[in-house]
Amino acid sequence: MNAVTSEPFFVRRRTWSSHEVLHHNDFSRVQLSDLQREELKPAFWSFLCSEYDSVNLFTEIQKRKHQFSPDFLAFAQAWRTDEENHAAGFAAIYERFFDVPSEQIARDLPARPVDFERVEEFLADEFQLSLVLAYDEIVTTHAYHRDIPMYASFGPRAYVNWIRFVKRDEALHFNNLLRLIRRNHRHRLGEVRGVLERVLAVDVHGDYGGTFVLDHGGPGFNLSHDELSSICANTILKKLTNEARKKSP
Ligand SMILES: [Fe+2]
Ligand SMILES: [Fe+2]
Repeated sequence: MNAVTSEPFFVRRRTWSSHEVLHHNDFSRVQLSDLQREELKPAFWSFLCSEYDSVNLFTEIQKRKHQFSPDFLAFAQAWRTDEENHAAGFAAIYERFFDVPSEQIARDLPARPVDFERVEEFLADEFQLSLVLAYDEIVTTHAYHRDIPMYASFGPRAYVNWIRFVKRDEALHFNNLLRLIRRNHRHRLGEVRGVLERVLAVDVHGDYGGTFVLDHGGPGFNLSHDELSSICANTILKKLTNEARKKSP
């Protein structure tokens, strides 16, 4: 008889602080031309908004708390702390690079409209929400990895270190979610392909509504629609089901 081991789920995470990695004097040593500032400003606002919007998603999760397992809620708590730390780093960069007072940033972030209608279908249960979050986290991991040379170009080593720490967190979020899906939703792995098809369809259509997930059309985003499917969705499908998505005709 095969023994089935059911190890308790635990959230893997690293504790670190954006404010400790990004020191004050690093900002004064950054040399950006006016053109670079103009080009980077909308991209960094978009990055900051995405990370900040974890607050909105966490609020939705709390409203529907009864739908979720203690494992998922433990993940969500740790995830929110990490995303807040990422948002704090992007806010510090945005303030210093573009001379925007922190008070204004703090006013503007929550003033944006929030609308969960576009992603409502994925909030229906823990399995689907874990999948859409896993997809979002692997997309972000790849996108931040691709941006590493940009951070290196800012000069001080602190920027590369910081984005590498952020990227490592996003990869850990992805891995935690995959472990959670395998452990708690194994009986639904046959649905993974269908959910991912819907995730991809929503991601490339419609307007982002401050939902944290599926915001992959904003300024500075560096993956193509093809890569969202071929690199990101496909990796999840392979890891969870050993299958690959068929190429679109
Ligand atoms: Fe993040
Ligand atoms: Fe994340």
